[in-house]
Amino acid sequence: MGLLEDKVAIVTGAGDGIGRATSMLLASEGATVVLVDVNAAGLDETKAMIEAASGAAVTCVADVSDPEQVQGYVEVAKGITGRIDGFFNNAGILGPMVPLTDYPVDAFDKVISVNLRGVFLGLKYVLPVMLAQGSGSIVNTSSMGGVGGLPGQTGYSASKHGVIGLTKTAALESVAAGVRVNAVLPGTIKTRMAMAGAAGMDPAIVEAMMDGSTPGGRAGVPEDIAKAVLFLLSDASAYMTGIELPVDGGITA
Ligand code: NAI
Repeated sequence: MGLLEDKVAIVTGAGDGIGRATSMLLASEGATVVLVDVNAAGLDETKAMIEAASGAAVTCVADVSDPEQVQGYVEVAKGITGRIDGFFNNAGILGPMVPLTDYPVDAFDKVISVNLRGVFLGLKYVLPVMLAQGSGSIVNTSSMGGVGGLPGQTGYSASKHGVIGLTKTAALESVAAGVRVNAVLPGTIKTRMAMAGAAGMDPAIVEAMMDGSTPGGRAGVPEDIAKAVLFLLSDASAYMTGIELPVDGGITA
């Protein structure tokens, strides 16, 4: 019996990286997973990987920054059993790597639109379903850059600080109804996003640099975050809400 048997869970950013690994773990624990991403090919790959392991998933191509498309993925999820038990509000993008004074205004707006507005919209349209059913757990993806500064990543850091504010406010507004909202703060995790900042460099050198930036000499892998998200979505964390959980190999210790 899995930790999420007969549950329905939504994962945004499920076409790659942390979202893909988490979708696979949630499905392996019995959840039917609604896979959301702008990348249709990535979604198909994730779905095929889940089904190859005898799990259940449906795909939904959607941009998390568009209210109508967010309502669309919520309707797809509700169509499965009428319930939404878990929600990993995770899709995000990195902005350009430049000092604040050079940071383009349109790049700032884009990063805020996906990373902050997207998380807000997910909460706005998923929470009513959970509040009405009197249960549910949500995990928003923030970052180490959501609790400290990230030189060169103004828009990203601002968006991830905002995700903490959304998490805590939503948690306080929902706790009496039996719904929990927490944030996970990944450290340096080997995904396409993390590697993109070093485009053109030898991937082996980039990975070595990432490993070297952690106290234990090992950068994280998406599965490290997936396990923490499973914990927060399951009843194992039933008395936890409104928290910022770093999963970073000790970077913030
Ligand atoms: P990734 O780039 O591997 O995956 C992100 C996924 O989000 C992609 O499949 C992409 O197509 C999707 N996406 C982008 N914009 C979207 C939109 N508007 N609507 C729907 N889907 C969209 O990145 P990764 O590393 O898996 O990132 C996942 C989350 O983890 C992000 O919120 C990121 O900020 C956060 N994070 C990652 C860290 C890392 O070191 N990799 C560190 C801290 C936080």
